[in-house]
Amino acid sequence: MLKPLLGLLVSYFLGAIPTAYLFGRLLKGIDLRRHGSGNLGATNAFRVLGKGAGTLVLIIDILKGTTAVLLSRYAFFAPQAMPQAGISLPFYLCLSAVCAVAGHNWTIFLGFKGGKGVATSLGVLIAFSILIDRFFILVLLITGSWLILFLATGFVSLASVICSAALPLLGLILQLPVSIEIFLVVLGIFSLVRHKANISRLLQKKESRFNTTSLFKK
Ligand code: G3P
Repeated sequence: MLKPLLGLLVSYFLGAIPTAYLFGRLLKGIDLRRHGSGNLGATNAFRVLGKGAGTLVLIIDILKGTTAVLLSRYAFFAPQAMPQAGISLPFYLCLSAVCAVAGHNWTIFLGFKGGKGVATSLGVLIAFSILIDRFFILVLLITGSWLILFLATGFVSLASVICSAALPLLGLILQLPVSIEIFLVVLGIFSLVRHKANISRLLQKKESRFNTTSLFKK
């Protein structure tokens, strides 16, 4: 059982790589926690470091989640021992995904303060869509809804909050297995907890809007 445990540790540490922080330090010598919204995520990297850095942070943060789950599936899952111990493959993959997103949100490298987990959550969901039947429908629906909400309102956080809350509902509609449904609830809660300040700013109409036209300019 050591190998599967190692898989969970690897998932956490992959998620914990503070991409936005590293880009801020390397590109501008700044601590992104003290600029813009102070969040260590792709949105704040876009805001403070620009489109190129923001895009790279987004891609890397997505890949952290995808890689963690795929590694757990193909390098760390023990098909003999684990089902015997009552740990199914979907359950193990859910644990790995939760570890990766927790690593991003509460990174050991920065005193357990990190990002909000949206890109890394998308990354783990993408891995699930490769590994689990019908899961790609959920990924398409959630990504499409996020994009529509973001482009229509200009608020990244509003799109993220609504999609986080909708995630378990979509799982129910698609009749995904119970372990996956519980996982979607956990993922949604993680994101909502991390967006607490955004939710309060949105309610007070103080949240800053993302300049969506900047996305389409050279
Ligand atoms: O994914 C994070 C996003 O929803 C909000 O980021 O920097 O505006 O707090 P930020």
